[in-house]
Amino acid sequence: MTSGAFTTSSLAEDFRALGLRDGDRVLVHSSLSALGWVEGGADAVIEALLQVTGPEGTVVFPTLTGASTDTPENPPHFDIRHDTTWCGEIPRAALQHPRHVRSLHPTHSVAAIGACAEVLTKGHQHAVSPCGHGSPYTRLADMGGRILLIGVGHDSNTTFHTAEELAAMPYVSYPGRHDASVVDADGKSMLVRSPIHRWDRPRCFESWNDALVSADIVRCGNVGTAPCRLMESKALTEWLVALLLRNPRGLLAHGTPHI
Ligand SMILES: CC(C)(COP(=O)(O)OP(=O)(O)OC[C@H]1O[C@@H](n2cnc3c(N)ncnc32)[C@H](O)[C@@H]1OP(=O)(O)O)[C@@H](O)C(=O)NCCC(=O)NCCS
Repeated sequence: MTSGAFTTSSLAEDFRALGLRDGDRVLVHSSLSALGWVEGGADAVIEALLQVTGPEGTVVFPTLTGASTDTPENPPHFDIRHDTTWCGEIPRAALQHPRHVRSLHPTHSVAAIGACAEVLTKGHQHAVSPCGHGSPYTRLADMGGRILLIGVGHDSNTTFHTAEELAAMPYVSYPGRHDASVVDADGKSMLVRSPIHRWDRPRCFESWNDALVSADIVRCGNVGTAPCRLMESKALTEWLVALLLRNPRGLLAHGTPHI
């Protein structure tokens, strides 16, 4: 289906044609408007993803809350009871889903629905870094998980930051770990120590897409009217870490002065 109104079942058919399978664990970055008009809106997209991945599968949405104003002097504060996300309408709808489980991280939380939701999200606040070891992003890779981009490019692909963190790129975060405050679902407030991302280092993630397609890591297709990409999280992460070890400036925008 390429025009007109899209439905849960037509979207599910398109997701399957792209390569999404029963049992998949998949992290989804999305633009609802890119899909064309969807009957039922964001909820219908989530339902389509859950239908395709089935009862053994898990669908994960970025529910990030970090802001460019976060610094060691002005650390982030996250209240899971009230704070929504700037990652779009589909992740915001996931936060209303009765089966969602959200990780408790001051800047890089995710919401997961499905069989591995607890395992993926648990203890994110204790991760070594926001997207690194102990985070849902590396856990997803270690579980054979995948990443789906719906109508957005790699500039929205948080797993690029996973690679930067695993390769210990000095430009990703302010030096050291800093106290940030989080409030859990019971209203209990606590301090967690985490690196804080800096926002003043422009990247060129999207410029690597052709190379990733040539390396058979990224598969392209359409869902509704949205150009989409599907990839294995582990293969992507390993490829990017290798790139960074060869060229530590590889993911920085041309002309960025400091790393
Ligand atoms: C910023 C971003 C979310 C904007 O995408 P978008 O499609 O304009 O916005 P949303 O996904 O929030 O969807 C809302 C839009 O869907 C459209 N919409 C509403 N109902 C709809 C329906 N039933 N069917 C289709 N589109 C609909 C509306 O036009 C609305 O746009 P508006 O606010 O201009 O009216 C997207 O470009 C993006 O970057 N997504 C990825 C975010 C991410 O994962 N970041 C991680 C960073 S490391």
